[in-house]
Amino acid sequence: MLYTVTNLTDYTEASLVRAASELLEHLRAESDAVESAETWKLFRDRWIGRKNGILKQVRELWLNPAPAEIKPRVGVIYRDIELQIEDVIATQKKKYEAIAIFRKATSDIFLDATLPLDITLPGIHRPIGAEHPVIKTMNEIIGVFRNLGYSVEEGPEIETDYYNFEALNFPPNHSARDTQDTLFIAGQESKPPRDRLLLRTHTSPVQIHTMEKMRPPVRVVCPGKLHRNDAPDPTHSPIFHQVEGLAVDTNITFCDLKGTLDHAMKALFGSNVKTRFYPSFFPFTEPSADVQISCIFCDGKGARDGAPCRNCKASGWIELLGCGMVDPNVYGFVDYDATKVSGFAFGMGVERVAILKYGVDDIQLFFQGDVRFLEQFG
Ligand code: PHE
Repeated sequence: MLYTVTNLTDYTEASLVRAASELLEHLRAESDAVESAETWKLFRDRWIGRKNGILKQVRELWLNPAPAEIKPRVGVIYRDIELQIEDVIATQKKKYEAIAIFRKATSDIFLDATLPLDITLPGIHRPIGAEHPVIKTMNEIIGVFRNLGYSVEEGPEIETDYYNFEALNFPPNHSARDTQDTLFIAGQESKPPRDRLLLRTHTSPVQIHTMEKMRPPVRVVCPGKLHRNDAPDPTHSPIFHQVEGLAVDTNITFCDLKGTLDHAMKALFGSNVKTRFYPSFFPFTEPSADVQISCIFCDGKGARDGAPCRNCKASGWIELLGCGMVDPNVYGFVDYDATKVSGFAFGMGVERVAILKYGVDDIQLFFQGDVRFLEQFG
């Protein structure tokens, strides 16, 4: 039988408490049945409806007729009942809204069981997703180095100043840090400078993490996302990806670096591609170089169809990555013996490789999530 409020036969504390807890038990039991906007409205009107809601009955049958000396106590109980009813009504509203969202999201998966099943209807079309071009390119680069015996290491995107800079031979306050457009995390003035957090500006800190946990020989590639304080435009993005490489062993020379990267560029862009190593500077490599590949659009000629090649600014070369021999100072930070080991490192931008490989003219396309762009890589 549906619960109704009855007159109180006496106003002893025991009888008040019993009546109140019986009411609340029914409140909770009935609330279980709420599962849609309609059942919720019925539930709400039944309990707090103005005309004849249960709360109103409590007021009329329990509170109003209470003897004057007990009235304050009955008032407290009434108020408690009122708060609990309101609470249950609000909770049930959230519940049915969540149910509605779930039903909507799954309505095309679970057929409505009340409808007759028509097995002649076409099935539900589920388009197959495509690997994102950045991930696809990253995996291709990793694949080239895996075939050379490299393993994969990853590191955190939120780094300390120590790993992003200091252990990579960027001394505190050195101007080389300015080239990195770093996003620092605010409010860390009380920490020692080397412990302050920032968004990593390159994947090179993973070199340090790797050397801290591995002894030579080391051959790793480190793919990952990084962040720089750069305004977005067709060739810049505040978020992009790199694949870092590190090889440390006895007797590794610049020749090994050249041979490895020349092979990698040919594997990525075709065996006709030539490479050129151009002097450069990075604090953590010495000597350092930028690697250029012969322009894949004009075959390194600098001109195409009688006009200067726009892709290489008519130079015949495209700059692609940074590299160098690991600076002996870096070994000091990870407890390697710089007199016994040597090695090389390199870092290449994944979007840059993807732009060249797939002829994309705006780096922003990688981050806008437009399906019409992305599905071309399926
Ligand atoms: N970390 C450098 C950059 O982001 C690239 C690099 C990596 C250079 C490894 C040399 C060796 O510009």
